[in-house]
Parts: sequence; structure tokens; C-alpha cells
Amino acid sequence: MSQQLPWSEIEKHADISSCWVVIHGKVYDLTAFVSEHPGGPDILLDVAGGDGSELFEDIGHTSSARAMMTQYAIGEVED
Ligand code: HEM
Repeated sequence: MSQQLPWSEIEKHADISSCWVVIHGKVYDLTAFVSEHPGGPDILLDVAGGDGSELFEDIGHTSSARAMMTQYAIGEVED
């Protein structure tokens, strides 16, 4: 079962030293990926510590981007 993470914890990971992003209820630790993101680091840092679902979908990420993201999943947002 995946780890349940409260927003109070997620919000602390909001910059380049620790960058967590929520996409569709799952929490991703993108710290190691920020500087490699093909869309650039700034857009990820803008949503760090928060919900990036809408922007993630707006861009229309490819299926390869969607396959890549699974390796960064660390848990789910706590109910
Ligand atoms: C684990 C999460 C993510 C992964 C693995 C990822 C991966 C990628 C990849 C591989 C691309 C190249 C195009 C493609 O293959 O779709 C890309 C482009 C892009 N991504 Fe992400 N991305 C992630 C999250 C996000 C989020 C949360 C945002 C917005 C807040 C974002 C914004 C963009 C933008 C603006 C581009 C550039 C599109 C373009 O220049 O045409 N990405 N991303």
C-alpha cells in the first residue's frame, strides 16, 4: 500500500532543494528530475509543494512522459 501524505507535509517541499508535486492525487518527488525536465525547471518549481494536475494536462504530455513519472511516485495525498 502506498504511503499517505498530508498536505501539511507536501507543502514543505516547495523548492529546488526538495520539490514534490501532486498530480491526480499522487505525490511525486521531482527533486532529482527538476533540472532534467524537458519543459524546464521553472514550471515545476511554480507548482512545487502544490497541485500540478491541471498544468500537467494542459501541456498534453506524451505517453513516454507519463511512463517516466511513475518512477518518482512516493505516495498519495491523505484523505
Ligand atoms: C513527473 C512529472 C513530469 C514528467 C515526467 C514530465 C516530463 C516531460 C517530458 C518528457 C516532456 C517533453 C514532452 C513530452 O514528452 O510530453 C515535458 C514537457 C513539458 N512539461 Fe513536463 N513533466 C512532468 C511534470 C510537469 C508539470 C507538473 C508541468 C507543469 C506544471 C509540466 C510542464 C511541461 C511543459 C511546459 C513542457 C514543454 C512542452 C513543450 O515545450 O511543448 N511538466 N515534460
